[in-house]
Amino acid sequence: MSVAITNIGSLVTNDPNIGSGILGELENAGVVIEDGKIAWVGNSGSAPAADQVIDAKGMGVIPGFVDSHAHLVFAGDRSKEFEARMNGEKYSAGGIKSTVAKTRAASDAELEANLITLQNEMIRSGITTFESKSGYGLSVADEARSLAIAAKHTSETTFLGAHVVPEDFASRADDYVALVTGEMLDACAPHAKWVDVFCDVGAFDVDQSRAVLQAGIAKGLKPRIHANQLATGGGVQLAVELDCASADHCTHLSTSDIEALAGSNTVATLLPGAEFSTRATYPDAKKLFAAGATVALATDCNPGSSYTTSMSFCISVAIRDMGFSPEQALWSATLGGAKALRRNDIGALSVGMSADLVVLSAPSFRHLGYRPGVDQIFHVIKSGKTIYKHQDGIK
Ligand code: NIG
Ligand code: FE
Repeated sequence: MSVAITNIGSLVTNDPNIGSGILGELENAGVVIEDGKIAWVGNSGSAPAADQVIDAKGMGVIPGFVDSHAHLVFAGDRSKEFEARMNGEKYSAGGIKSTVAKTRAASDAELEANLITLQNEMIRSGITTFESKSGYGLSVADEARSLAIAAKHTSETTFLGAHVVPEDFASRADDYVALVTGEMLDACAPHAKWVDVFCDVGAFDVDQSRAVLQAGIAKGLKPRIHANQLATGGGVQLAVELDCASADHCTHLSTSDIEALAGSNTVATLLPGAEFSTRATYPDAKKLFAAGATVALATDCNPGSSYTTSMSFCISVAIRDMGFSPEQALWSATLGGAKALRRNDIGALSVGMSADLVVLSAPSFRHLGYRPGVDQIFHVIKSGKTIYKHQDGIK
């Protein structure tokens, strides 16, 4: 079964050999999908015949967004905490504990239903691949079930038992790290691809974080890290030391952090929703780009610091407040996310890549930042199959 998409006003391929700029943008373009993969890319008029034709009617097409950082297994919300913050309270890691209590009290069915609701929001926002962490269970059984639920919906699952020290281990952080690196890791590793740790003030220090990541690595998991969200610390340097796929947040970066990232294979994943929703100072992506670091954008969807599933929103903020150009923001939300997950089959639309793409209801990707808050996701295709199509409901 082959599908041709023709009459694309602006196609982002993310392959500079195919089109112009870092996005490899092609105008009046067409693509042909075969067996779930991109089989042909070129001028719309020269598209080879296919079993089915989708006329993009001059609209833009982009690779599906790759959301490399989300926390989708939890119960309850923290809208009151958000309200207090907007009235002047400061964000701290401590709020995580209230979600832990609600998550522990929820059934598997409730946790999965919440995850599916958020996953569907993501699909409607054009996200075709998402990562999800555990981290709101913080007991052996609750972390293991969180990951088992996430693994039913994504292959990009991350063990975040070291999110904070739970109340039942208050003043016994080292005992908790021993649990995370021992029995909890044993129970979680079968359901996880990645290991993560919140290395920051109020969470885990660098030595504890190193112990967590090294234990995960020894168990066959690949490392990624929450680093430098609340303060400059050693998180980013640890990420580079351990060849983490990604150092996430990077809100507070020193010059040597930026140099370390630029000289490494570790992607700097910026999370605009977190600074937005915690009223934190935005990191300056210009410095990262100038140094030559690879930068990803992700939603960080979670009930505390960033309760959004909208990658378009993240792109708008990244452009407006974090120094991204529109091209850089789109790249970071697609191919950048793929690199943060060390995936080379998604995030671009060149021949052989997975046919994960979005037909916009706008003439090009530029409208994503230009029209903040407006839903411009029209048709979402994953592995060549339609997973969402916008139906105009106004009569
Ligand atoms: O990525 N920073 C640590 N973890 C989450 C927030 C968790 C929460 O506040 O519930 C984050 O922002
Ligand atoms: Fe996070």
